[in-house]
Amino acid sequence: METVNAYQESNRDRFLEELFSFLKIPSISADPAYKEEVSNAAQWLSNKMTEAGIDGVEIIPTEGHPIVYGEKIMDPGLPTVLVYGHYDVQPPDPLELWDSPPFEPVIKNGKIYARGACDDKGQLYMHVKAFESMHKTNQLACNVKFMFEGEEEVGSEHLGKFLEDHKDRLDSDVILVSDTSIISNDVPSITVGLRGLSYVEVEVTGPNKDLHSGVYGGAVANPANVLCAMIASLHDDQGRITIPGFYDDVAVITEAERERMNEAPFDLEVYKDELGINAVHGEQGYTTLERTSIRPTLDVNGIWGGYIGEGAKTVLPAKAAAKISMRLVPHQEPDKITELFVKHFESLAPPSVQVKVTPHHGGQPAVTPTDTDEYRAAAMAMKETFGKDPIPQRSGGSIPIVALFERILGVKTVLLGFGLDSDAIHSPNESYGLFNYYKGIETIPHFFAHYARLKQIS
Ligand code: BES
Ligand code: MN
Ligand code: MN
Repeated sequence: METVNAYQESNRDRFLEELFSFLKIPSISADPAYKEEVSNAAQWLSNKMTEAGIDGVEIIPTEGHPIVYGEKIMDPGLPTVLVYGHYDVQPPDPLELWDSPPFEPVIKNGKIYARGACDDKGQLYMHVKAFESMHKTNQLACNVKFMFEGEEEVGSEHLGKFLEDHKDRLDSDVILVSDTSIISNDVPSITVGLRGLSYVEVEVTGPNKDLHSGVYGGAVANPANVLCAMIASLHDDQGRITIPGFYDDVAVITEAERERMNEAPFDLEVYKDELGINAVHGEQGYTTLERTSIRPTLDVNGIWGGYIGEGAKTVLPAKAAAKISMRLVPHQEPDKITELFVKHFESLAPPSVQVKVTPHHGGQPAVTPTDTDEYRAAAMAMKETFGKDPIPQRSGGSIPIVALFERILGVKTVLLGFGLDSDAIHSPNESYGLFNYYKGIETIPHFFAHYARLKQIS
């Protein structure tokens, strides 16, 4: 019988060509102008899933972008793995900062450059190709279900309802997701925590029109000045967030756990170098690894108002606005945090302006346990293909659906990602290493084999 490895070896080039076709479809979920392209990506993916041997592949419409579903049920006695991924991508702008067009994938220095190369088309497609390799060599040891969504990058708004409506169909023993990163190509890791998210937009309004900044400046509140002062006051000089009650529910991490966490390889000099910064920054009393995993944060994602064109125009803007995200940790509740933010931010406004806060999407944090069959199966799989035991590590990013899987379906997730922090996801020149793409395709079948075996014993 042909081995999975041999099959993968002889189909390497095709696996890459197919990913290239996928990456060429600009499935930008945030931009309504690309709605058709998002649906083209769903169609392309469903065709490829069927070709790979997945049964009953269906494009299921939602009120937003469609979900692509398919399955292979081998034997009801076998464990069932539900694979989740997202085929939508972030907008590519600013376009002028890309070295090659975002939807014309190229390979340079062993990496695939394109929007979605890593997040998440490349990582999603590893699962389709891993499945194909197991199926075509008759070595699939579990039942598999695939659920690929097109709205992750805009908050997975309709996925909760989909889970509620399709509980039976989605019945499974574990959810397998590749949408996170490893520490480095020689230090494999498994993500065991994701941060939650509360996202708001704030608007400060002053006079009823833009004013001459000489005639009125100094006598009328400038919404841009006021907004900056309000935002600046959201952190104290210790880097802590000043919203009353913000830290009330933050889970306390034991000293022992913090120590273990900080043993993970991390080079501050390399970190600063890669980002072109002279110093790091953040909440006092915590390391960089802690600041990006176990501590909550507040950041302006965009800010605007007044004149931002060429040259100088003297104007006192009538309005200024900002988009602000808060990354949350267990056991902070996004809705509660949003409420605290709204109340506090409104209270900060001087009588000379008006403030409006509009909440956007949110998501709950998640922690995944390490004393489970799925974690052990993932760890053994990585040990085999990387030659080293992976390190469990919490990530700073968010995948809100992970908490929903647990709450609605009652199923735990294993986050078996293969990206690198240097892949520049959401940034210009996003990339994904060829090493990582093929390593993922190689590792996933080992997960299935170990998981089936461990489940049978337990
Ligand atoms: N794949 C990322 C999340 C991620 C990135 C997890 C790196 C761990 C390491 C996901 O596509 C993403 O970007 N999520 C958004 C949240 C969403 C609600 C828009 C995020 O984290 O900003
Ligand atoms: Mn992603
Ligand atoms: Mn993303």
